[in-house]
Amino acid sequence: MSGSERAKRSVYMEWAKTRSHAQFNLATSGLISVPLSELPVRLEQLEITAPGAYGYRPLQERLARHSGVPEECVVAATGTSMANHLAMAAVLDPGDEVLIEHPVYGPLLDVAEYLGASVKRIARRFETGFALETAEIEKSITSNTRLIVLSNLHNPTGALAPAATLLAIGEMAHRVGARVLVDEVYLDMLFDSGAPSSFPIGQTIAPAADNPFIVTSSLTKAYGLSGLRCGWVLASPALAKRMWLLNDLFGAVAAHAAERMSVIAFDHLAQFRERARSLLTTNRVLIESFLDSRRDLECCRPLAGTVFFPRLTHGDPEAFFKLLREKYGTTVVPGSFFEMQQHFRIGIGGDSAGLRAGLKRLSAALDEFAKR
Ligand SMILES: Cc1ncc(COP(=O)(O)O)c(C=O)c1O
Repeated sequence: MSGSERAKRSVYMEWAKTRSHAQFNLATSGLISVPLSELPVRLEQLEITAPGAYGYRPLQERLARHSGVPEECVVAATGTSMANHLAMAAVLDPGDEVLIEHPVYGPLLDVAEYLGASVKRIARRFETGFALETAEIEKSITSNTRLIVLSNLHNPTGALAPAATLLAIGEMAHRVGARVLVDEVYLDMLFDSGAPSSFPIGQTIAPAADNPFIVTSSLTKAYGLSGLRCGWVLASPALAKRMWLLNDLFGAVAAHAAERMSVIAFDHLAQFRERARSLLTTNRVLIESFLDSRRDLECCRPLAGTVFFPRLTHGDPEAFFKLLREKYGTTVVPGSFFEMQQHFRIGIGGDSAGLRAGLKRLSAALDEFAKR
């Protein structure tokens, strides 16, 4: 793609902001938002301006403690969105080779293309539960590869990459001097069941300075705190420094009131984690019983998280989404946004009554569609 043709937009984000809203919205991937009244914050704890610096010390401390890494490996960012952009922009030059999973969360691909990278794809297949296959990466990686881009849990399927697979991918990348960016924005939804974060795995491959993994995350998805825009990158200290300097060209400094509120959120994180765990326990029963009841959908069911990515076994999916939206007032994310037309993504992070009603509408629409 030449410079003038570079995509400077995300078609998916545009759709999500303008077209995903509906009376029954099954299109969102996060947890229902925490209202301000549930954040234990007092006005006198807030301030709007901090002395300019690379990070707000109390927040840096909490991000490092939460991730189990030294502070010098942490770069605060405006959501996982800016964390991903910073990570890719710090590593890539135009023309650099990047391997990106397919299907993928659109903006990950959009940013790589915007930066002028030469993109190759790594297939995740329905038949293997959308698992990351190391043979697939082995086949595509070359001495020119600078970056491999993955999400774990995977968006849109929710597939979990085991630690052994991440280790093998990290070793492959390390051998050719590439990095592996893992977007872990959904990983905390595994709660206490030993989520395999990539950054500590990378520390077993190489000394801290050469950790091949770069990890991004935020308080958005697992905690329902999107509004704080509290995101971060974990990277080797030298790369982290490069990202801080690069960020001077983007936002330069964060909204300080949001930094203060993020510190408070971290100090009460257990409360938000329990809220998420309880909601998702209820909602998982609803989606499982919905999927059990449908012969016209095939679905690899993830162990955790908020997203499911069923496949319509027959019919024109676009006609189905039109029917679902126009007659049943319900939205899901069409698979075309993930380059898999026959699929769609259902999010289960909304309130349970809304999810129950939305799934009922989805069933009714599928029944009507089957008769066409
Ligand atoms: C894989 C992935 N990364 C990043 C984001 C954006 O996260 P944030 O709201 O923290 O910027 C999303 C949101 O849908 C996502 O699914």
